[in-house]
Parts: sequence; structure tokens; C-alpha cells
Amino acid sequence: MSAPDCPVSAHNEWDPLEEVIVGIVDHSYFPPRHIAQDAPLSPDQRTVFHANAGLPFPPERVAAAAAELDALAAVLEAEGVRVRRPEPRDHAQSYGAPGWTSTGLYDAMPRDVLLVFGDQILECPMAWRSRYYATSSFRPLLKEYFRAGARWSAAPKPELPDELYEADWTDQPDGEPFRSVIGEFEPTFDAADFIRCGRDIFAQRSHVTNTIGIEWVQRHLGDGYRVHTLDLADDHPMHIDASLMPLAPGKLLIHPDRVPEVPKMFKGWDVLVAPKPVIPDGHPLYMTSKWINMNVLMLDEERVVVERQDEPMIKAMKDWGMTPVPCDFRNFNSFGGSFHCATLDVRRRGTLESYF
Ligand code: ARG
Repeated sequence: MSAPDCPVSAHNEWDPLEEVIVGIVDHSYFPPRHIAQDAPLSPDQRTVFHANAGLPFPPERVAAAAAELDALAAVLEAEGVRVRRPEPRDHAQSYGAPGWTSTGLYDAMPRDVLLVFGDQILECPMAWRSRYYATSSFRPLLKEYFRAGARWSAAPKPELPDELYEADWTDQPDGEPFRSVIGEFEPTFDAADFIRCGRDIFAQRSHVTNTIGIEWVQRHLGDGYRVHTLDLADDHPMHIDASLMPLAPGKLLIHPDRVPEVPKMFKGWDVLVAPKPVIPDGHPLYMTSKWINMNVLMLDEERVVVERQDEPMIKAMKDWGMTPVPCDFRNFNSFGGSFHCATLDVRRRGTLESYF
């Protein structure tokens, strides 16, 4: 089916946005304790996760984040974008597979769960047991998109046995090479460890995405795409979109420390180093660093959704020739993401191109 007729069609992070899924925080729970969840968190965040395992996120935090998500949906609609929402799921329900049981997390981050490549929407095999059924809330939409002509696929369902995880994993000392909490037992990946620039896709090996998972994506997409694994310097890698964000052809936003060397391919691109985040100490961030400030969403090559209180980022974007669309999102940030994580661009008007 050709792009204009297909409900799913997006090739990059910047073509004009026409339809988007915005996440929800209803029934969000801290998952039961598991080593895979410890690895990407900071020591303080781990303490909070352990103390609250199996409990709901604080209701006042959920309410504040839900209001911001609704406001984001309204901002996007006012900018001419069709907004869709998942169907709430009760993440306190337990489920399992041979050898393990778990309860769930949330439906806040469609970006983590689903990958859109052209007319195809792909369900990702996530490494956290607490996210095993993370696509469930999106299934009504997936079925609708499928019926309307999209290609719908899912990577091989992982088994997530104990063998996948490094039982003796500990934080590596500063300066030592990255050691992941997951091995290569089977392909696992989160969608947010990939970022799209047309035929070139950038990926990172992380605590949820393994090498065989990246290889699976490359082989699944075939020769028309090139998947490049980047070596980034993130102490707790999980999701690439607070480290490296291509915003438009020729424009790359980077974290000041996590991209020690801009990959050679981006030679000739303008590189903007993200301004320091202004999120105050003490603001709860359950599962992200403050650098979530660079997790912006492009509505086209110029309009960019940014956090309303993040004046340095608003200024940087203006200086860079962009048009910031401010939106309050700090309460949502507590849940581990910002505008890019909280959304999934289902349709952007444009064609599959090579930008390198
Ligand atoms: N790991 C990143 C950080 O701590 C946050 C990435 C969030 N991205 C997402 N898609 N949930 O800075």
C-alpha cells in the first residue's frame, strides 16, 4: 500500500507529523524486583524501586502526569496532529511464562514498545519481564491500523528465562567498558534504543537491547536499510533518545558527555550540544536522568515540542532556527521520559530517503 493511503507511514523523526499515539499513566505500578530493572537505574532510583516493588506509583504523581499528557494531546491537536490514546490496562495483574511470573509497569511510553518503519508497525521483544505484555494497551490501535492496510509484525516472542540475565551483574566501575545485564540468549530490544533517519537507523546496545536483537532488526528490515550500532558513553544505557536525537536533515542534538565522538556519518551536520537541564534537585525522577530535557518531539523540521520551564532549551532551539512549541511536562518526566518517549509517530508525511 502506498504511503498516502496507509494509516502507518513514518521514516524519520522530522517529517510533518500527521498522527501520533500519546501514552497514558493510568494504573502504573512499580514492577516486582528483578535484576534487569536495577541495571539501567541509578543507585537512588533502585532504592525507590525496591521499596515500592509491586505498589502503584503515587496517585498524586499519576494525576499530575495524566493532566500533562492530556494537555500534550491538546497541544498536538491544536498543531493539526491527529492524537490517539491506548486503552488502559491493569498493571497489577500477574502473568508469566514457564519459569517466572511478574506484574506490569505502565502504558506511558509508546516509544519504548513499538517501532514504525514505513508502513510497518513492529511490536518489540522487551527484556523486562514487567513489560512482557506492554503492547496490550496498544493492540486495539494495532488491529485498526492493520485493518486499514498497515503491516503489523512482532519480533520472535522472547522466553525471558533466567539464562538471559547476568545473575552476578554489578555496576561497572567508572571508565570500564559497558557490561550489560542481559546476554545474547535470544533477541531482545526496546524500540527506544533505535532512532530513524530514513534508510539509516541508529541503535545502541543497552541493558535491554542485545546484539542479536539489533541483528534481528537489520535482517528483518532487509537490504533497504542500514542499522548502525553506535558506541555511546551512557553509564546506565536504556533508550537512545536522551543521548542522540537527529532533529532534521543536517541537525543533530547530542548529550554533552554521552557522545564522546560524533559518529563519522554525521560529518557535515550541525551538532547542537543539549543545554544543561534545569529540573531541580528533589524533583522525583523514578527512572531517568535529568537529561530527559533533550527528549523533544519534532512536529516537522522546524516546530519542536519542548518543556515549558526549560528556558535554556527553548532559547537553544530558537537560536538554531527552530520554532519551540512549549508544553508543561515536568510531572510526566518523573515516569522516565519526555515528549519523544511519551509518543509514537504513526504517520509523518514523507518518503523513504537516504540522508547520508
Ligand atoms: N536513559 C535515559 C536517561 O536516563 C532516558 C531515556 C528515556 N527514553 C525513553 N524512551 N523512555 O537519561
